[in-house]
Amino acid sequence: MLRLDCLSLTGSRRICLPRSLPSPFEELHVVPLVHETTKLLDEELDRIVNEGVAAHDNLAIGTIIRECNDLFKGVQSLTDCCGGDGTTVRAIVKAFPDIKCTVLDLPKVIETAPAHDSVNYVAGDMFHSIPPAQAVMLKLVLHFWNDEDCVKILEQCRKAIPSREEGGKVIIIEIVLGPSMGPIMYEAQLLMDMLMMVNTRGRQRDENDWRDIFIKAGFSDYKIVKKIGARGIIEVYP
Ligand SMILES: C[S@@+](CC[C@H](N)C(=O)[O-])C[C@H]1O[C@@H](n2cnc3c(N)ncnc32)[C@H](O)[C@@H]1O
Repeated sequence: MLRLDCLSLTGSRRICLPRSLPSPFEELHVVPLVHETTKLLDEELDRIVNEGVAAHDNLAIGTIIRECNDLFKGVQSLTDCCGGDGTTVRAIVKAFPDIKCTVLDLPKVIETAPAHDSVNYVAGDMFHSIPPAQAVMLKLVLHFWNDEDCVKILEQCRKAIPSREEGGKVIIIEIVLGPSMGPIMYEAQLLMDMLMMVNTRGRQRDENDWRDIFIKAGFSDYKIVKKIGARGIIEVYP
């Protein structure tokens, strides 16, 4: 069962979050930086953060489709877990019209997502269940969460996909910390690590960290398909 921490805001308002160490930002402001309650702290900050996150996150998908075409080849159905307003999935459907795509996100996000004929939108909570598909994608999601929560999220992904023989896989797009892409990219990765540790409950991870999490969540194998700039594209198999 998911355990929650409930915090009191001004007046009678309370917010409940998965129980884990709060980030320094939360310690100071009570609400997280990227959360549906952030607007209770400051509406303008919430708007700027949401626009910034969307611009940053959506930047990558065109390059990923171009550079890692095989990632989506043969995939019949895909759930973009925490897929926001569906921008990423709409780019995938455009490049691969035969893939049946679903976007899972929180109700407040799905309510305002633009409708699309080929995209199924589901409002829900990834800690409870993820819509089944041959592949589940987590793009720039796990760096927001601590290791324990990452294992819980991946356990839900594992339940949502079929066996490896049936093409089941989880596609993870995240930084894989390490100096292999040169000193400038490594510095950028470490700065992103600082950013996540100060503002969220998560962090950036190196390959050993990722492997530990995959094993704890019950997966048998993984492959780093490619590194593009600071980020890595990882396939994880049941
Ligand atoms: C940084 S964004 C993810 C970026 C997106 N995958 C992309 O690449 O553009 C984080 C998203 O996770 C969603 N989210 C947070 N907690 C969630 C939960 N428990 N279940 C489903 N979605 C959640 C947020 O609403 C937000 O849209």
